[in-house]
Amino acid sequence: DLVVDLGDTGIKIQPTMYGVFFEDINFAADGGLYAEMIKNRSFEFTLPKTGWIEPNSDRHSYNKESGIMSVVKYAGDAQNHNYARVKVNNDQGYVLINEGFRGMGVAKDAEYKLSLKAAKNSGNIQRIKFQLLDSLDNVLGETAIVPESDSWSTYESKFTASKSEMKAKVKITFEGTGVIDLDMISLFPTDTWMGREKGLRKDLVQLLYDLNPGFLRFPGGCIVEGRTLARRYQWKKTVGDIEEREILVNRWNTEFNHRPTPDYYQSFGLGFFEYFQLSEDLGAEPLPILGCGIACQFNTGELVPLDELDPYVQDALDLIEFANGDTNTAWGKVRADMGHPEPFNMKYIGIGNEQWGPEYIERYAIFEKALKAKYPEIIIVSGSGPFPDGDYFEYGWEQLKQMNAEIVDEHYYRPPQWFRDNATRYDSYDRNGPKVFAGEYAAQSVAIASPENENNWDCALSEAAFMTGLERNADLVYLTSYAPLMAHADAWQWTPDMIWFNNLESYGTANYQVQKMYSTNAGTDLLTITEDEKTLIGQDGLYASAVKDSTTGELIVKIINTESHPQALKLTASNGNLGNTGTVSTLQSNDLQVVNSFESPDKISPKESTLAVSNGMVEVTAEPYSMNVIKIKIL
Ligand code: AHR
Repeated sequence: DLVVDLGDTGIKIQPTMYGVFFEDINFAADGGLYAEMIKNRSFEFTLPKTGWIEPNSDRHSYNKESGIMSVVKYAGDAQNHNYARVKVNNDQGYVLINEGFRGMGVAKDAEYKLSLKAAKNSGNIQRIKFQLLDSLDNVLGETAIVPESDSWSTYESKFTASKSEMKAKVKITFEGTGVIDLDMISLFPTDTWMGREKGLRKDLVQLLYDLNPGFLRFPGGCIVEGRTLARRYQWKKTVGDIEEREILVNRWNTEFNHRPTPDYYQSFGLGFFEYFQLSEDLGAEPLPILGCGIACQFNTGELVPLDELDPYVQDALDLIEFANGDTNTAWGKVRADMGHPEPFNMKYIGIGNEQWGPEYIERYAIFEKALKAKYPEIIIVSGSGPFPDGDYFEYGWEQLKQMNAEIVDEHYYRPPQWFRDNATRYDSYDRNGPKVFAGEYAAQSVAIASPENENNWDCALSEAAFMTGLERNADLVYLTSYAPLMAHADAWQWTPDMIWFNNLESYGTANYQVQKMYSTNAGTDLLTITEDEKTLIGQDGLYASAVKDSTTGELIVKIINTESHPQALKLTASNGNLGNTGTVSTLQSNDLQVVNSFESPDKISPKESTLAVSNGMVEVTAEPYSMNVIKIKIL
């Protein structure tokens, strides 16, 4: 029999306990959350015609053919380096096509907004037609602009699609002959999250919003570090006018990928301002992670010499000013000019992603000193390396403890069994040391990041069991997040992932449903739950944790059954009384291999039922392979 002690443990569940970790991996930003439909809108990719097709042009017969597009560099040192010069020779059908991010998702009756910059160069191009086409070249919607000026001017137009299509493309047709320059050719749905112009994909943000996340960690992951230092994420290049945000090859583009994606770049249309804004929309604490002067460990591991670390440290100091500084400060003014004069009230900053060893510690120490000197109130999250347990991991933790580090970020991508076995992981951690951020974790059904990995119920259920251990250790574990968060079905590099999407649809995996069960039932105070005075950490395949929600006055108990048979349980309370009825919300399947999918997004989704409490006791059956969240009012 299970007994919940309703007496106060004095342990609070941190509001940050269950958060999300966003990394631009698997086309999560460009091609995903960021709703831009044109790939390489500004012709800045290393191969600058990437994404653009000229079906009727032949480079070998330049003047004879219908026309040609060249990529030209702007004079001077603008961050927007390139534009396209289109030369239309005759009326023989020169067209330019943009293929989108594995096609473009077009929804029937949805409105789209085209915008571009154009400058007439010579001749007379009178009209430029933009059409959305399906795979058979049927027109789904169209608009046109009439270029008027020989200096750079912005043109905009809206139109509505007549039909849905998952893999549309844009065809650009030129009327007249001559030369015209084009840049920032952009197409967005107008129905974005919060209706923001050039904003975020509504369905994807909604999935995040529904998690009620305690924090939003961004922008990664390995992309923080870059494959080389030169290609690290530099937040200052991601704010201000989107035209001036200098594009970067994504760390997940080609090398050291399980699935190379050579057309993977970062336009930074989703940049640091937008991440802070998204955090605010989600009611989540912003948790930016900055590079610490070490390139991605899986690649070069390039190091910045200690005496050359100043610009990196300055970036961190300036970020705090950008987020929190008043509008008279240099970076506070940048934020205000972008439309957010109020501070973002950032409380946390992460220094280094998944780094370890003496090289990390000596760099971290320099950041810590400078940050704490100027902003003593900022809470610094430090790293501890990738797959904990090795010597380096021990080294990092020991040093960080000695330095009185505040929160240490741990990452683990392990088999499902490891998660079930590690529900006790934090029971023995030193309570006098740093707090824990379980910043990246996910059960791997085959092997770490194997392309064969599945987001199956076995993995999700194992994570659910493990998470009782996170919750039971809420005095130590302050933040947790599954990783990676999102993946495009046609453009991923890493599996498993919590949310899958294509150009039109998205769904939460079984793992998402588990996260949601925890994050929407986080409670405020930890309680003790025992069976025969013992914590339930896998005996008979049962795991349990309990919290109280002091705002609703409810007891919330999570019970996970990892066995293949049902288990009848009786639950009573000590040191308080339970109300007469309750509810139970259950995730369950007899098949551990089952997955949610685009076709069946709800295979693993909560089923609700009511519970009777009789004489202070609740009888509940934990079905085979189930996660159960019981809620009962406390009298
Ligand atoms: O989540 C995928 C990657 O795993 C992250 O970018 C990195 O931090 C970790 O190694």
